[in-house]
Amino acid sequence: MNRVTELFNIKYPIVQGGMVWCSGWKLASAVSNNGGLGLLGAGSMRPEILREHIQKMQKATDKPWGVNVPLLYPDIDQLIQILIEEKVKIVFTSAGNPAKWTGLLKENGMTVVHVIANGRFTKKCEDAGVDAIVAEGFEAGGHNGREETTTLTLIQHIRQLTSLPLIAAGGIGTGKGMLTAMTLGADGVQIGSLFAASEESSAHSEFKKCIIETGEGGTQLSLKKLAPVRLIKNAFFEQVQKAELEGASALDLQKLLGKGRAKKGIFEGDMIEGELEIGQIATLINEVKPVKEQMTELLKEYNEAKQEIANNTRFQF
Ligand SMILES: Cc1cc2nc3c(=O)[nH]c(=O)nc-3n(C[C@H](O)[C@H](O)[C@H](O)COP(=O)(O)O)c2cc1C
Repeated sequence: MNRVTELFNIKYPIVQGGMVWCSGWKLASAVSNNGGLGLLGAGSMRPEILREHIQKMQKATDKPWGVNVPLLYPDIDQLIQILIEEKVKIVFTSAGNPAKWTGLLKENGMTVVHVIANGRFTKKCEDAGVDAIVAEGFEAGGHNGREETTTLTLIQHIRQLTSLPLIAAGGIGTGKGMLTAMTLGADGVQIGSLFAASEESSAHSEFKKCIIETGEGGTQLSLKKLAPVRLIKNAFFEQVQKAELEGASALDLQKLLGKGRAKKGIFEGDMIEGELEIGQIATLINEVKPVKEQMTELLKEYNEAKQEIANNTRFQF
């Protein structure tokens, strides 16, 4: 048992990050059924669709699971109401200030975790009364911090600022990566990109294929004037780059982005016009696998790496 497994009552301190168009009930329940914590990604669900996924989740697993709520969500009041009505027990909030909703969620008996990408937000999390923090570094897929702080630096920084349970995210997709994050002071890890490429992920097969094919330098933090997001360098990304070079304003970029770009790319498989969110760790993801295999490999490598540190002379000088 460590603080993260205890907080959520799970076997392994591995959280599957909430991911738009990837983490429906199939992925989240597979992760929970294999000893981690699965999260439904409410960011791409209309309120009634979320209710449907919650109800399917309740049937698919008797293990703990949660819901990720990006706080920028337009109908957030409705979404929160559903979490209360359906008696959801664990909520991970992201992309916003935890001050507004944490109190209400906690009053309704939920464990609340907030995702941050810089040290400044640590105090806001503590003041809001969250139970744990996810610190997400520059390497991560999806929306990201403007500061571009890498996971290696961020985890140590936030560990200095708070004694709350800390979950590291960004660039973790192997057992060795997990052990490194825990060595830096994290109590657990949140993994996105690897699970986006799992069999159970609801992403389009073309998107999964694209993750496998994405190599070194294949992603970049983009749309920094708007809301920074790490994207695969496809034709849409190049359009954004060109517009930024020509001095596009936030409003111009908003127009270029339009609505439904992430759905187009991740869910509908349009690799040209879609917004393809993935992390740098895509370089190390070479195959689409079932969650069970991904979890087994992560844990095997984690345990082997721990042994290696104890036994290998490379670590002794
Ligand atoms: C396709 C995709 C969609 C994502 N959508 C969300 C989201 O809706 N809400 C959120 O808090 N984080 C989102 N993330 C971030 C993940 O939850 C997770 O923190 C991140 O992927 C961890 O870094 P990694 O990709 O290096 O594993 C997304 C990531 C990816 C790859």
